Amino acid sequence: CCQRYQEKTLAGQHWLLTAGPTREAIDPVRYISNHSSGKMGYAIARAAVNAGARVTLISGPVNLTPPQGCRVIQVNSALEMHQQAMALAPKASVFVACAAVADYRLADVATQKIKKTADDMVLKLVKNPDIVADVAALSQRPFTVGFAAETQDVEQYARGKLSRKKLDLIAANDVAREGQGFNSEDNALTVFSADSATEIALANKQQVASQLVTIINQAYQAKNSST
Ligand code: CTP
Ligand code: CA
Repeated sequence: CCQRYQEKTLAGQHWLLTAGPTREAIDPVRYISNHSSGKMGYAIARAAVNAGARVTLISGPVNLTPPQGCRVIQVNSALEMHQQAMALAPKASVFVACAAVADYRLADVATQKIKKTADDMVLKLVKNPDIVADVAALSQRPFTVGFAAETQDVEQYARGKLSRKKLDLIAANDVAREGQGFNSEDNALTVFSADSATEIALANKQQVASQLVTIINQAYQAKNSST
């Protein structure tokens, strides 16, 4: 009856997300990256749009169609993703860091294609900035959610990241388990806050994403009403 008059759950909220891998250039034709498909981040963006949020997706290079009604900012490197996130985060209500950001980049990027002359070679890498930790450290910070893809001691590592990066929530998944994580269609998550753990059972990533959006919104509302 009153569907038409009812505001959608996330109406008035601006969600900012990172998704996909980053590419760290070695020279003009080569890079270091990882196997992230971007599916989980795109699924969360779609779920947030469906729930009525304004959504901005900062995306590394992926082979996915961006969800309708969502602003996509394409980036390649971790430094580019960091720059966009820091510029947009102060005005976001919720920040969800789904990207598989390369932890290191080349200390020096060759300006010309490296020729195959030496018999062995060493690439010097330096640490990339931690995007989600830097967003969480902003004085005007959005409600900040991280991911933790782990192959062992999932809860311990996830809780470590939650507190070290000063996140509000962290969604952990065990990528060592069959059929979930990086390149698969399905996922299962445990969402940790400082004092709670909520399970999302194995399902396709779009179903998991809409449950996650609900959990994030509940925690976001609870935090806002307590402050
Ligand atoms: N993350 C980020 N910027 C980075 C590295 C990670 O924003 N430079 C974010 C990821 O998007 C994710 C969370 O931090 O939300 C955890 O990423 P993960 O790779 O699991 O954690 P790291 O701190 O990089 O630790 P490690 O790779 O050693 O497990
Ligand atoms: Ca990492």
